[in-house]
Amino acid sequence: MGLPSQVAPPQIALSDAPATGVVGADVVAIPVLSDADGPALGPGAAELLDELDLDVFGLLEQAQATGKAGEVVLHPVLSTEGLSNDSLRCLLFAGIGAGTPADLRRAGAALARRTKGKQTLATSVAALADDAGLRAFVEGLVLGSFGFHRRSAGPTETPVSRVVLAGLTDCASREDALGRALAVAGAGWMARVFALVPSNEKNPQWMADRAAEVATSSGLGIKVWDERDLAREGFGGLIGVGQASATPPRLIRLDYTPASSGPDTPHVVLAGKGITFDTGGLSIKPADGMMTMKRDMTGGGVVIAVMGALADVDCPVKVTGLVACAENAVGGNALRPGDVLRHYGGRTSEVTNTDAEGRLVLADALAYAVAELEPSVLVDVATLTGAMKVALGQRTAGIFANNDALAALIRSAGAAAGEPLWRMPLVEDYEDRLDSKIADADNAGGGPGAITAALFLQHFTGSLPWAHLDIASVGDSPVDSYEWTMGATGFGARALLHWLELREPLAGVTS
Ligand code: BES
Ligand code: MN
Ligand code: ZN
Repeated sequence: MGLPSQVAPPQIALSDAPATGVVGADVVAIPVLSDADGPALGPGAAELLDELDLDVFGLLEQAQATGKAGEVVLHPVLSTEGLSNDSLRCLLFAGIGAGTPADLRRAGAALARRTKGKQTLATSVAALADDAGLRAFVEGLVLGSFGFHRRSAGPTETPVSRVVLAGLTDCASREDALGRALAVAGAGWMARVFALVPSNEKNPQWMADRAAEVATSSGLGIKVWDERDLAREGFGGLIGVGQASATPPRLIRLDYTPASSGPDTPHVVLAGKGITFDTGGLSIKPADGMMTMKRDMTGGGVVIAVMGALADVDCPVKVTGLVACAENAVGGNALRPGDVLRHYGGRTSEVTNTDAEGRLVLADALAYAVAELEPSVLVDVATLTGAMKVALGQRTAGIFANNDALAALIRSAGAAAGEPLWRMPLVEDYEDRLDSKIADADNAGGGPGAITAALFLQHFTGSLPWAHLDIASVGDSPVDSYEWTMGATGFGARALLHWLELREPLAGVTS
């Protein structure tokens, strides 16, 4: 494409050698636990102290280290005399708190930040972790390394090239956990890239092209509807929202079938909002509110990235991903306030605000799924409402669901993955906000905004078990915070994969 080359995540390998014995490592990181009576050295410290004349406790005290997760104390190595590794330039003492997965994820991300520009990091942190801990550490390392740019001179910083997880007792038994971690982190990375690509490059067809690449590399089925197909088959929401754009709408369908699939295999449908730019349409947004709207396709990008990783996490259920892509633009042929759209299957919406466009395109995708795909459950992911940010801020997403078991499964997967979700209510009393004088529903009935948006979508779910993830607020991180890098977060990829890799992703979910 002629675009500047991007940074790549570090290569990560497992080793039973001690961290000090990893040939070519310019950085060695030793874990430090935070104990009741001060910082305590984790595995790998003994081998290090054998070779090095270093008062580690004096050093940690000097640095006022506590061993809390994410803390990193740096000690330069000025001479390698007497060391088995003459490449060593720097020691890092990495706080891992109590060593929980959440602690290790933070430690991984903090190490990723402190090793930018280095060659090889060897660390014994994973030696004290179980598989969940190793995964969290690797997910933190990879996502904390994330970078994206469009600078002509290349990236301003590059992640460490290689990380060796050293001091493991049985490497072969950890390969599965490493593979899953790389798949999940890779999906999060991909979702961030998609969200960050500017909208002069990224339009509905661009999304379809990325989906096609993922389908090829991951062996998925793919179908793409162009604007003519969409009009012919009655996808009025996508057509209406996308009609003023120079780049017409697309609906993307990706299909994953597990090797073990049989007639009773459950079928999950994931639907993502793929608005490649949201001006608000004729109900136009103020300039400030439009600034981040290139990432209004985050839900759709998350769905594509998740679909690409399902085989790698050995997902046991059938999954279909639907991505409803349109650019919400202004123009002489734009959707107008007062227009009535006819969604797939026939339900109608009166458009009282063209900026409430996400629900209009998702409605088509959900209605199509219910009518054509025989889903066991529906899950949609969308940067749907600014109201979500007011309610929950930028670190916790909202999850609406008509099924307690489904909500609990996704929430606990999110908690394990580092993507917290808070359950929001589908308050029936607010249904009358959706009333329209002339259509089946009003697309912008008013507050409470996140709830009325969810209620609008619920009418398209055919009473199937359904969860709706409103990621408007968490799609963007205002600061660098551990594995969350400033800007696009790709929120949802990790939570959905931690859910879909369960042996029974639909345990207890009955309609
Ligand atoms: N894409 C926005 C929601 C959004 C806002 C995402 C801020 C990320 C950050 C969505 O299409 C939108 O404009 N929603 C409106 C709905 C309203 C007009 C009923 C909103 O939330 O203001
Ligand atoms: Mn909008
Ligand atoms: Zn939007």
